[in-house]
Amino acid sequence: PSAPVADALGRPLRDLRISVIETCNFRCPYCMPEDAVDDAALDAKSRLDFGDIERIARAFVANGVRKIRLTGGEPLLRRGLPELVARLKTVPGLEDLALTTNGSLLAPQAQALKDAGLDRLTVSLDALAPALFRRMSGNRGELARVLDGIDAAERAGFAPIKINCVVQRGVNEDQMLPLIAAFAPRGHIVRFIEYMDVGSCNGWRVQDVFGVREMHALVAARYPLTPLQPEVPGEVAERYRLDGGGEIGFIASVSKPFCGDCNRARISADGKLFTCLFAGAGFDLKPYLADARGLQAEVRALWRHRADRYSEIRHAAADRRKIEMFFIGG
Ligand code: GTP
Ligand code: 5AD
Ligand code: SF4
Ligand code: SF4
Repeated sequence: PSAPVADALGRPLRDLRISVIETCNFRCPYCMPEDAVDDAALDAKSRLDFGDIERIARAFVANGVRKIRLTGGEPLLRRGLPELVARLKTVPGLEDLALTTNGSLLAPQAQALKDAGLDRLTVSLDALAPALFRRMSGNRGELARVLDGIDAAERAGFAPIKINCVVQRGVNEDQMLPLIAAFAPRGHIVRFIEYMDVGSCNGWRVQDVFGVREMHALVAARYPLTPLQPEVPGEVAERYRLDGGGEIGFIASVSKPFCGDCNRARISADGKLFTCLFAGAGFDLKPYLADARGLQAEVRALWRHRADRYSEIRHAAADRRKIEMFFIGG
């Protein structure tokens, strides 16, 4: 592993998010609304195999990446995922391997993922009221299975588990306190994410955003909050200690953009590099996969050119074509 390469705005390459599958068993309206998803755009045949994913991981670690997060779509739909985890754990210089999942398929796989060496786990969970949960999953998900998944992950030894909740005004802000009450006493970290204008198919409107200021006020009225200092540069969540123990976080991607130290690269399941969550197009890495040194050099060159900072210039760039969230896993 070598020193991180810096982009055109001086931001080091540190985190890599790899989507292992382009589809999902949920259809959350803010991400993959049922009526807006073009199935023809989902191309299982073009998926990278595990060897290719490992080659890409090595090329990024050689350019400074220390942390890899596996995403989807829903990554646990990808057959044999623990095997990929085990392979990535062999990459020298990689310090942290994490997974973000909707949790619905987690119960039977949690132990295998732990045994394969997965370091950390994040489960997306927007509501604890079963009917609301179901609606927010596009009528696909069942709350009890996700809760079983979290229990199984806890038993397998994942601690703390992060629980991500996207908050939409008028939809689920009343779920914030119940989520904290359910998970903070077990030592898990609930994080509340502002609803973002990712992709083009979710019909995002600024009035649907429940901002972090309001989130903070809502929580602080029940649990006095003490701010925690960032642990690493480029951290996306503002973290707080709860009165009575536990930690929560707020992710202010809309109201307080954090592009200034954004060190994240994203790879779609078909092997394209996206240098921003809001990029219009990715750069196809497939032609470089046969030659490790060439791939490493290409990644370096691409990162050096990077100047994305969408969330800081959102108002000027809102009409641009953007990649859908489920292709690059958030
Ligand atoms: P840790 O590795 O534990 O720090 O997790 P993380 O916060 O990097 O990953 P996670 O997938 O949990 O991120 C939480 C959410 O924050 C994502 O799903 C996105 O909604 C949002 N987010 C993460 N990175 C970015 C980013 O670079 N830009 C924007 N706009 N939002 C991001
Ligand atoms: N705004 C904010 N977060 C989103 N996610 C998906 N779509 C959006 C959006 N429009 C979140 C998921 C999950 C993570 C991968 O990204 O809920 O927690
Ligand atoms: Fe929902 Fe995540 Fe699936 Fe998108 S990828 S539809 S946010 S579960
Ligand atoms: Fe990074 Fe783009 Fe998100 Fe800004 S908008 S933090 S550059 S991914």
